[in-house]
Amino acid sequence: MNNFVFYSPTEFVFGKDAEAQVGTMVRMYGGSKVMIVYGGGSIVRSGLLLRIQQSLQESSLSYCMLSGIQPNPTDAKVYEGIELCRKEKADMILAVGGGSVIDTAKAIAAGVLYDGDFWDFYIGKAVVEKALKVGVVLTIPAAGSEGSGNSVITKASTLQKLSLRTLKSLRPVFSIMNPELTYTLPPFQTACGIADMMAHVMERYFTNTKDVEIADRICEGILLAIIKEAEVVMKEPDNYGARANLMWCGTIAHNGTCGTGCEEDWASHFLEHEISAIYNVTHGAGLSVIFPAWMTWMTEHHIEKIVQYAIRVWGVSEDGTEKEIAMEGILRLKSFLSSIGLPVTFKELGIEHPDIDRLVDNLHNNKGELVGNYVKLTRKDSKEIYELAL
Ligand code: NZQ
Ligand code: ZN
Repeated sequence: MNNFVFYSPTEFVFGKDAEAQVGTMVRMYGGSKVMIVYGGGSIVRSGLLLRIQQSLQESSLSYCMLSGIQPNPTDAKVYEGIELCRKEKADMILAVGGGSVIDTAKAIAAGVLYDGDFWDFYIGKAVVEKALKVGVVLTIPAAGSEGSGNSVITKASTLQKLSLRTLKSLRPVFSIMNPELTYTLPPFQTACGIADMMAHVMERYFTNTKDVEIADRICEGILLAIIKEAEVVMKEPDNYGARANLMWCGTIAHNGTCGTGCEEDWASHFLEHEISAIYNVTHGAGLSVIFPAWMTWMTEHHIEKIVQYAIRVWGVSEDGTEKEIAMEGILRLKSFLSSIGLPVTFKELGIEHPDIDRLVDNLHNNKGELVGNYVKLTRKDSKEIYELAL
């Protein structure tokens, strides 16, 4: 096991009616005027925004609002938010939504207190030293941004989708998580969230680090829980227990717990980010296409942990060659993803003829000549993986 620092101090308020506590939480963390950031309107239609406004008013807090954050959020809304936040003198950002909204809120929180262009943080030109506090009311379990210090933004003019990773500065101070808020999710968004949280676990599970029994078992346990509850929520969208388990899985998958002591991989995420940057597909759907292709490629290059995964997560019999066991595990993963309505090929994703050379170029121009860690992928390797996803 490698040395590690685990720092994950977000206060999670979890359960039915949790959003009623938003005013109290903002006060507790020192906010006096908040900027509410939200997406395309689901929180208006569900009545959640109204309940949040009431709770803030009950705590004598004032607020301004930034709406219209789109999935795969771009820089334009970040600039708009920074300007609004400065004008209104808001001292805390309250993200109400999913990863796109939370990531935009984080970018604004860092950008407001920075003299230069917030994009400097995403291209590694500057480090976030201070940021406004961010609080979250989560409406979709998927990206895990409610418990991570990360933010992913796309620069529209160059179609660069880049992630900013911080240990402390952008970690939400609190996240309010009421599983009932996820009942209104369309089945496709529920499924994409499931694929994303599984991917967050698997990026950590596929490691070369030895003696990581605890990380392995945590990862396998979370994957088994996701697979079990996914089948339930797809049939019964209002099943509180299943929604609650999935919501917590999404957070634990990405708040650092799963990868403690491991060298993590992240190649599949980087391969996917190029797809959603160019084709604007939903991140989880892109991962559902890429992860099985990445694993299939690994069966020829570094099969060891794929075999363990097939046996322990998918219950594949240990009889047979390593290749047979691994391929059966990948087949079961794909059948599962298909069964919850997700694509497993570019074609099913709606991209008949992806521009693979452009994807490979963008990937390696953004992330360097070698990508990932389980096997460090060259341009040739990335191209082969994209081709396996056709
Ligand atoms: O915008 P509204 O109207 O709210 O609709 C949203 C949006 O269309 C809808 N939705 C959310 N909650 C709902 C709901 N609809 C009905 N009922 C509800 N309760 O769902 C759609 C997708 O929302 P989005 O925020 O885009 O989803 P997600 O949480 O999957 O976030 C995806 C983004 O996060 C990034 C992805 O790349 C993508 O840009 N990621 C961020 C990470 C991080 N910060 O650590 C890590 C991830 O790997 C990921 O890359
Ligand atoms: Zn993800």
